[in-house]
Amino acid sequence: MTTPAWKARAKSVRNKAEDAISRVTHMPPRRIRGDISPLWLDYHKTGQDQVDFLRELCGLQHDSHVLDIGCGVGRLAVPLTTALSKRGRYDGFDVMPYMIDWCDRNIAAYHENFRFTHADVQTTIGHDSGIDAADYVFPYEDNTFDLAYAGSLFTHLTTDGATNYLNQVTRVLKPGGVFVATWNMFNSDTEALVPGRSLRQVWPYEHGEYRLKDEVHPESNVAFDEVWLRPQYAKAGLRILEPVRPDATYSPLRVPKMVQAANLWYAVTIIATAPAHS
Ligand SMILES: C[S@@+](CC[C@H](N)C(=O)[O-])C[C@H]1O[C@@H](n2cnc3c(N)ncnc32)[C@H](O)[C@@H]1O
Repeated sequence: MTTPAWKARAKSVRNKAEDAISRVTHMPPRRIRGDISPLWLDYHKTGQDQVDFLRELCGLQHDSHVLDIGCGVGRLAVPLTTALSKRGRYDGFDVMPYMIDWCDRNIAAYHENFRFTHADVQTTIGHDSGIDAADYVFPYEDNTFDLAYAGSLFTHLTTDGATNYLNQVTRVLKPGGVFVATWNMFNSDTEALVPGRSLRQVWPYEHGEYRLKDEVHPESNVAFDEVWLRPQYAKAGLRILEPVRPDATYSPLRVPKMVQAANLWYAVTIIATAPAHS
């Protein structure tokens, strides 16, 4: 179905107005920021925190080639435009075309070493065409990236999609490359550690290795059992660098008091490395 001309014109006018504001604020309009999480109302601070984390603990260098999986609206990309030199490179992809469009118009247009790609992958959180996440081949050559990052991406995949994405990460990382990902993760001790926020309340639907918040839209919010998750890294050839940390960026401490975000108590960051030889 083609978009009527008046709608296309209205969209173009709105984009131009919002882009003019983005050029001053260096962030997307609130209309779009809210789609990735209420946390990203603190877009600059949390993005810079992630860059600092990648630099201090994950080997990010000014000339790294970085992959951002589920890049959203450039929360990591914007601070990377100053952290990476002209010799560094950034690639990000996401299933949401309007997010990629914003990043193209407002980041890639000004930084030739930044590239954004739309991934035509089907998901129940808003992109109902495209291929299954379990079959998606990342659009990059083998051994391309020094560092791959996936911030709250695996919170939107179930087991088959998640295992395929882990395998794809191993394929596109250079030997010894670093992979940083956040997950909702639980184990038999977790509930005791986060009293008052039981797994059953946060993710009522149990599916063995994972739990869902919403059965009709499975990818809306997924939590994985640590007993299942750790071996998936090993099967993909990725070695986890201990410790697995509570996630700083997705910390509930960042959430304004009125936002109910009990799932964030279960958010962890896993740092892993690809095999030293391919
Ligand atoms: C919670 S947002 C996080 C965005 C960004 N990583 C950040 O930290 O600001 C999750 C992102 O993953 C994207 N996403 C969901 N499923 C995906 C998939 N199968 N492949 C790629 N991106 C996906 C969503 O469109 C969304 O932009």
